[in-house]
Amino acid sequence: MLCHMAFLCFRITLNRASWKVRLGCGQLIMAARDLAVQAVSLYKGYQIGDVAIQALKDINLDVLRNEFICLEGPSGSGKTTLLSLIGGLDVPTSGKIRVFGTSLSHCDEDYLAVFRGVYVGFVFQSYNLISTLTTLENIAFPIELAGFKDERINERPTKLLEMVGLSHRANNFPSQLSGGEQQRVAFARALANNPPLILIDEPTANLDAKTANEIITLLGKLKEEGKTIIVASHDERIKQLGDRVLKLHEGSLAE
Ligand SMILES: Nc1ncnc2c1ncn2[C@@H]1O[C@H](COP(=O)(O)OP(=O)(O)OP(=O)(O)O)[C@@H](O)[C@H]1O
Ligand SMILES: [Mg+2]
Repeated sequence: MLCHMAFLCFRITLNRASWKVRLGCGQLIMAARDLAVQAVSLYKGYQIGDVAIQALKDINLDVLRNEFICLEGPSGSGKTTLLSLIGGLDVPTSGKIRVFGTSLSHCDEDYLAVFRGVYVGFVFQSYNLISTLTTLENIAFPIELAGFKDERINERPTKLLEMVGLSHRANNFPSQLSGGEQQRVAFARALANNPPLILIDEPTANLDAKTANEIITLLGKLKEEGKTIIVASHDERIKQLGDRVLKLHEGSLAE
């Protein structure tokens, strides 16, 4: 009981503090709880033998909940690296990053794995489907990984496959699907645990015009659902869907 009351007092104090900030600074200052992503002076470096590569330099970025961001920049400018840090696939060399209020700057792999399972859906450049699992099993995989054993494993993958228009390919393996079909399965898998944040790397780069259109329609649907979406892409149609376009150049965000 005492514990419960202490927790309540703590929450009320926090809420008051947040409102004080809002009231004191007007509408210019956003309460942290409205932010999906907050990066402060983020750096990511790699060392290969004697060669040091600075993939990201002094990235400062706020992304609102429900915002759709398009990330563009030349090859090697750091787009995939930035998506990896936001999605907790890797940690920064220095700087701070918070995603839905969770600090990811100094986390160990176990913590990051749980974070990813709850908050993030990835669609990678190379789809990353598991070749030995069928389409349906690939989509069910993150649900099983998150520890759910109920009807979600049976029902949700079937519904997601229907959503991406591939119900008839449920029992096929990835190698039996076209690139565009694999891309759509990757989208369905990213949505398996209904994450609030979707990170997508070059979704239309290798697709023909018709399949790219299907993916863009899918992105529009996700936007309407209120997901926070960050897409690395140069596709003009995706840029038009976005609320903002961010430009990376040699690891830095353009002003
Ligand atoms: N694991 C790694 N080890 C060493 N260097 C890396 C690693 N990953 C990325 N890099 C380097 O970091 C820089 C940024 O790479 P990144 O993959 O983020 O670029 P990108 O903008 O996604 O490029 P592309 O458009 O070709 O996909 C590049 O110079 C790349 O060679
Ligand atoms: Mg990339």
